[in-house]
Amino acid sequence: MAASTNTAASPQADEPIIRICDLHKSFGETKVLNGISLDIHKGEVVVVLGPSGSGKSTFLRCLNRLEQPTSGHIFFEGQDICAPKADVNDIRKRMGMVFQQFNLFPHLDAVHNVMLAQEKVLHRSRSEAKEVALKELARVGLAERSDYYPDELSGGQQQRVAIARALSMEPHVMLFDEATSALDPELVRGVLDVMRELATGGMTMVVVTHEMSFARDVADRVIFMEGGVIVEDGTPEQVFEHPKSERTRAFIGQVTG
Ligand SMILES: Nc1ncnc2c1ncn2[C@@H]1O[C@H](COP(=O)(O)OP(=O)(O)OP(=O)(O)O)[C@@H](O)[C@H]1O
Ligand SMILES: [Mg+2]
Repeated sequence: MAASTNTAASPQADEPIIRICDLHKSFGETKVLNGISLDIHKGEVVVVLGPSGSGKSTFLRCLNRLEQPTSGHIFFEGQDICAPKADVNDIRKRMGMVFQQFNLFPHLDAVHNVMLAQEKVLHRSRSEAKEVALKELARVGLAERSDYYPDELSGGQQQRVAIARALSMEPHVMLFDEATSALDPELVRGVLDVMRELATGGMTMVVVTHEMSFARDVADRVIFMEGGVIVEDGTPEQVFEHPKSERTRAFIGQVTG
């Protein structure tokens, strides 16, 4: 959650960690993002809602340059990451992403799944990578499962390994794209609890989810997207209780049943 008590007078204090300016993304003739502008501040938890096909995943994928935006700018920690010379690997080190599918290596146990990118990308030694991996696995509640292989873990546990893997890179921002959508209902809670703890610990997070209770309790801001534009941007209270558009009201009513 946003560290609203931080009133430090440094000139950078109000600089957003991510500034998105008039972001557009098309696939051929299909316009998917149609001018998104948004500032995200350090420690903020932004939940992104919207109907299927509204561009939520494309938006997240542009943020860490899994997609190249068609036009517009994204400044991340002051650097324009849409610039042709932007170092995509460096961006992804600082911006972790967790997907609906966990994408763990089946032939590696949990700790080695978490060690791999640390060794390959950050060039950490085996021993340091292992130390960090064990620490991050403990943080997601899997200290006892570090030598289990993916097929010996539940979906929820596998997703928590994927979160530990992302955290081991010490990202400054975490993106979650429907991280709990592939899980059986009884496994969702453990993953949401980990996400909640991260938020409480001050992590900056952009979270696409259909979990309305998470959005209500944890989000500092809720964004509602439709047709590749932001149609609502406010506190959970504003968006859930007083949505500007009828469409948002209908969507929220539908997903909360
Ligand atoms: N690589 C691609 N090539 C062509 N069209 C794409 C591609 N990726 C996404 N799209 C299109 O962009 C639109 C938005 O897709 P996106 O996955 O961003 O939506 P979403 O809001 O995440 O939907 P969902 O809730 O179903 O995950 C869709 O119409 C989709 O078909
Ligand atoms: Mg999606």
